[in-house]
Amino acid sequence: MRRNVVIGNWKMNGSVASVTTLVKKIIARGFGEKADCFLCPSFVHVKLVSDILNNSSSNIELGAQDLSEQIEGAFTGEVSGEMLSDLGAGLVLVGHSERRQRFDEKNYLVAEKYKAARAVGLIPVLCVGETQIERENGETEKVVGQQLRVIVEECGSELMKGSIVAYEPIWAIGTGLTATPEQAQAVHGFLRETLSECSSALADETRLIYGGSVKADNATQLFEQRDIDGALIGGASLDAEQFLSIWESAER
Ligand code: 13P
Repeated sequence: MRRNVVIGNWKMNGSVASVTTLVKKIIARGFGEKADCFLCPSFVHVKLVSDILNNSSSNIELGAQDLSEQIEGAFTGEVSGEMLSDLGAGLVLVGHSERRQRFDEKNYLVAEKYKAARAVGLIPVLCVGETQIERENGETEKVVGQQLRVIVEECGSELMKGSIVAYEPIWAIGTGLTATPEQAQAVHGFLRETLSECSSALADETRLIYGGSVKADNATQLFEQRDIDGALIGGASLDAEQFLSIWESAER
């Protein structure tokens, strides 16, 4: 039985003051009996959030938005998996579409980052998704299938175990457009089928989550879909009420 998971991706947002307020509000009303919750602040706020979570009895966990594929050394501006893990992070996003598009991260680099996360015990959240044009051209399965297969082939089924795959259609990110529950389910079903090419146990166990304008008012319908095991939430995760409401939906 897969446990639902909600992950807040705060992207490049927040100040010490606003992040402190946001975490405290989420902790104050946190759930967590049936669904896990991770918060992914920007790198500079990771320590702050880590300290607040450690000083509470909350079961909310810490994550990060990216990591270096390198272990350590002369890589100015980069942050290693070890550094994140040292601060208490349990999870890290890899291959977010904003990294792929704006920073030109290719599949091979995403695979290296995936391995770097695994090497230090971080749960990688592999993000996949198609553009509007690719969807219109009927290439959704081809694109997300390739993004997933590259990692499975590079890393092998052992390293895939316990990871999370996030389907985030690029046309739905920050646009207010959400994939319909049926559209999202279709792609999630396809991703699970793709994982089953590797092993049926892997397909059964892997949590597949949806991201792209998830809000309090569309979360329940998404979570009702058979192959949707939670959400990766951008904008709505910056609002404690919205985020808590989505988490509450994932608890059902
Ligand atoms: P929005 O929820 O703002 O559309 O962002 C989704 C996302 O990119 C989460 O990683």
